Amino acid sequence: MVAIDLTGKHALVTGVADDVGFGWHIAKALKAAGAKVYLASHPRTVAMVERILKRATSLEGRLLPYGTPGEFLPDAIWPCDVEFDTEEDILPERRLVKGYDGDVSIAGCMKRVKETAGGLDIVIHSVAFSPEIQNGHLDTSRKAYLQAMSISSYSLVALVRAAMPLMEGRHGAVVGLSYLGGERVMPFYGGGMAAAKAALQQDARVAAFFAGQQGHRVNIVSAGPYASRAASSIGAIDAAVQHVAEHSPLKQPITAQDVADTTLFLCSPLSRAITGEVIHVDMGYHAMAV
Ligand SMILES: NC(=O)c1ccc[n+]([C@@H]2O[C@H](COP(=O)([O-])OP(=O)(O)OC[C@H]3O[C@@H](n4cnc5c(N)ncnc54)[C@H](O)[C@@H]3O)[C@@H](O)[C@H]2O)c1
Repeated sequence: MVAIDLTGKHALVTGVADDVGFGWHIAKALKAAGAKVYLASHPRTVAMVERILKRATSLEGRLLPYGTPGEFLPDAIWPCDVEFDTEEDILPERRLVKGYDGDVSIAGCMKRVKETAGGLDIVIHSVAFSPEIQNGHLDTSRKAYLQAMSISSYSLVALVRAAMPLMEGRHGAVVGLSYLGGERVMPFYGGGMAAAKAALQQDARVAAFFAGQQGHRVNIVSAGPYASRAASSIGAIDAAVQHVAEHSPLKQPITAQDVADTTLFLCSPLSRAITGEVIHVDMGYHAMAV
């Protein structure tokens, strides 16, 4: 039997805010495979995730996949706003927001990884945000467009750079999450997110080249539409899910577990020759023209 065993590996998972999104399912998959899992969640969402990890009503969502016994419990959960590279970068007004005490920058997060784990083998980038997601592309302000790029794309570059010293000698694996709206025109995908996903995919290829000099890999999973919290804020997510289910070669909607399974593969030695790749987990929808 072929098995994925990540025992002894340390994984940092960004973008977990609830037990619905892709980040949560990826974190559970990594845990089920034996990795130590550290969540780097947006400072405003840490308390919510901590509640989900404890409350009885969320028990079903905590169960580990693949028949692995037990519930998901991360090895740590830290606040991290990926808009900020270092503590000095954190905007003074953001300091006034609950959860922003201490160094919640990417550098602060990596410092915690180093103190706790000593090093890092896996980094998951599952973060996206635009303050004007409901505005069409041409109606998006410059400020919102640049913030969408900063949080949704540049953060991958910043995370890879900050993680590299911790991944030294470990053949690290980095996986980011993208959407077909970064390759094709999806009119509802506004707020600068189309450009942000296009940038994310190219950033991953270029990062794969530079990180590859040290044996690390960087890949992207381009997921089909799924009604997460972030996607629901776009507005037309249910229609997008139904459209893809009806028009894909495999006529069904994707699940978060589909995305977690492929991400787990990309973090495992089974994918050791794959880097700079964008794998579509979308029931084949990306291949269609009608
Ligand atoms: N749901 C979909 O239809 C879909 C499809 C393709 C790709 N994706 C991508 O999957 C990834 C995860 O999204 P999801 O759909 O699971 O939704 P989600 O809402 O569960 O995840 C988005 C996460 O980004 C975090 N975030 C936003 N700004 C942040 C910041 N400044 N610092 C740190 N974290 C921040 C949020 O707290 C949240 O945890 C995103 O990159 C998204 O674009 C989603």
